[in-house]
Amino acid sequence: MSFWDHIKKPVLILAPMADVTDAAFRRIIAKYSKQQGATPDTSYVTWTEFVSADGLAKATPEGKAKLMRDLVYHESERPIVAQFFGSNPEIMYEAGKLAVRLGYDGADINMGCPDKSIMKQKAGAALMRDPKRARELIRALKRGAQEESEKRGVPMIGISVKTRVGYNKVEIDSWIPELLAEDIDVLTVHCRTMKEMSKVPARWEHIKEVVAIRNAMGKKTLIIGNGDVKDIHDAAEKIRETGADGAMLGRAIFGNPWLFSGEVVTDPKERLKVMLEHTRLFAELLGDIKNFAIMKKHYKAYVNGWDGAKELREKLMAEEDIAGVEKVLVGEGLDIK
Ligand SMILES: Cc1cc2nc3c(=O)[nH]c(=O)nc-3n(C[C@H](O)[C@H](O)[C@H](O)COP(=O)(O)O)c2cc1C
Repeated sequence: MSFWDHIKKPVLILAPMADVTDAAFRRIIAKYSKQQGATPDTSYVTWTEFVSADGLAKATPEGKAKLMRDLVYHESERPIVAQFFGSNPEIMYEAGKLAVRLGYDGADINMGCPDKSIMKQKAGAALMRDPKRARELIRALKRGAQEESEKRGVPMIGISVKTRVGYNKVEIDSWIPELLAEDIDVLTVHCRTMKEMSKVPARWEHIKEVVAIRNAMGKKTLIIGNGDVKDIHDAAEKIRETGADGAMLGRAIFGNPWLFSGEVVTDPKERLKVMLEHTRLFAELLGDIKNFAIMKKHYKAYVNGWDGAKELREKLMAEEDIAGVEKVLVGEGLDIK
């Protein structure tokens, strides 16, 4: 039993995105996506960006401390799931314990990342080539979490996997049953293969097939579809068409922390105000360990859709710190207090 057993469906999930959905952006998203309560019939769940399980176990003390900063979260983000990548079951066992110690609601293993540096470690999408190891990893994560939650007398956390529909080609029929056989709480499927990266449109018809496999196996695992969801209305339609239990949204969150409220904010002043709030939080929480260039990716997305946006974007791109950004915004007539 975990929070997934009594969650209201359908579930909308913020996707893990390395160097995008960091502690600062997630807190801003929680604030602006939840404030309206515009989606009373759905649940909203947050995923952290992925964190190296090996790094948490084996890095130098400074390296570990840095990784732990990726796992800092705010109560407003709950329910929140920590995502790990790795290929060593003993280390994944420790990650399961850590997720409980840190008070997470769930722990997820990445089995879909096509990045070469991750696959070289036999992690991410490489696990689709090694179902035996994939299953050992799930069991290890679950065992670690179970032991730690029993020791602490706290409820068991959710155990989940995020993957793709196949490696070089669609392999749903062989790959998905391996994962479902482990009785995970949630399975998120990005409906592209590893080889396709993000280059072709996501094929949601595969989610329908995954749901059918889950039903045929008689499993309770929630099936979450992922790929190219534009907004919460698009999510609702895709969920309806496929019978999925929810949808995970990634790139649609860029420049749009209001995404899960359903509100569309176009007023430049409001967008710039939230962009500045996001920048200040980034400086406060991560400024000492992360590069300011991360914020610039966000500026491109926030500053969009009005006359003069391009010029303002160019000015912001030339700045290297928060003081410079504030100066530019004052020049735009924004009250930055
Ligand atoms: C910049 C970026 C970073 C990502 N980092 C992760 C990650 O850490 N873990 C993960 O499982 N997927 C990661 N992904 C994949 C997304 O979670 C998601 O599966 C993908 O973007 C497709 O969903 P979308 O079309 O809604 O963006 C990342 C994607 C992007 C664009």
